[in-house]
Amino acid sequence: MQRFRYTKYQEQKEYDDYFSLFEKDKEVQRYVSFWKEKSYFIFMDNQFIGIFSLFPFYPQRMEIRRWILPELRNQGLGTEIAKDITDFAFSTFPECHEIISNIHYENKNSQKSIQKAGYILNQNEYEKRQELGEGTEYIPYVKKKTISSF
Ligand SMILES: CC(C)(COP(=O)(O)OP(=O)(O)OC[C@H]1O[C@@H](n2cnc3c(N)ncnc32)[C@H](O)[C@@H]1OP(=O)(O)O)[C@@H](O)C(=O)NCCC(=O)NCCS
Repeated sequence: MQRFRYTKYQEQKEYDDYFSLFEKDKEVQRYVSFWKEKSYFIFMDNQFIGIFSLFPFYPQRMEIRRWILPELRNQGLGTEIAKDITDFAFSTFPECHEIISNIHYENKNSQKSIQKAGYILNQNEYEKRQELGEGTEYIPYVKKKTISSF
């Protein structure tokens, strides 16, 4: 049985209630409000546990962002979800060949969990940002599609 289930945002009170659990998290408010149609609500054993967004920059390249409930953090769940979302994205959007994740340089927890999920530093993009002095507060990670992701 699948451990995680994802559903798109729905115009229902329960979804607005889930969303309000993150009212203190400005990033959720910013990204999910803006990308509501690109956001998924995460359920584990039918309990709501978090939200992720999957934004297509190009059909071949999507960006993920994920947020789990504060009381569930630092127990390995974020890593497990990142792996599962990545498989979900590659199988749901076959044209997508790489998934990127831009993580704030101070967000060590998120950086560690995305690497444990198989993402690596996007060296070219990192160096480009350093040279230009733009976007340097976000570290670019990438996961390319492999045979096992089909
Ligand atoms: C980011 C997030 C999804 C990660 O999920 P999580 O369940 O907390 O992550 P995990 O427990 O799987 O992994 C976190 C790892 O970071 C480590 N870690 C935590 N704080 C750390 C710190 N300050 N420095 C270095 N490592 C740290 C943990 O020890 C753990 O590694 P370990 O399993 O080897 O011990 C979750 O914390 C979250 O929702 N955060 C708020 C929203 C957010 O920042 N989202 C990312 C936006 S791109």
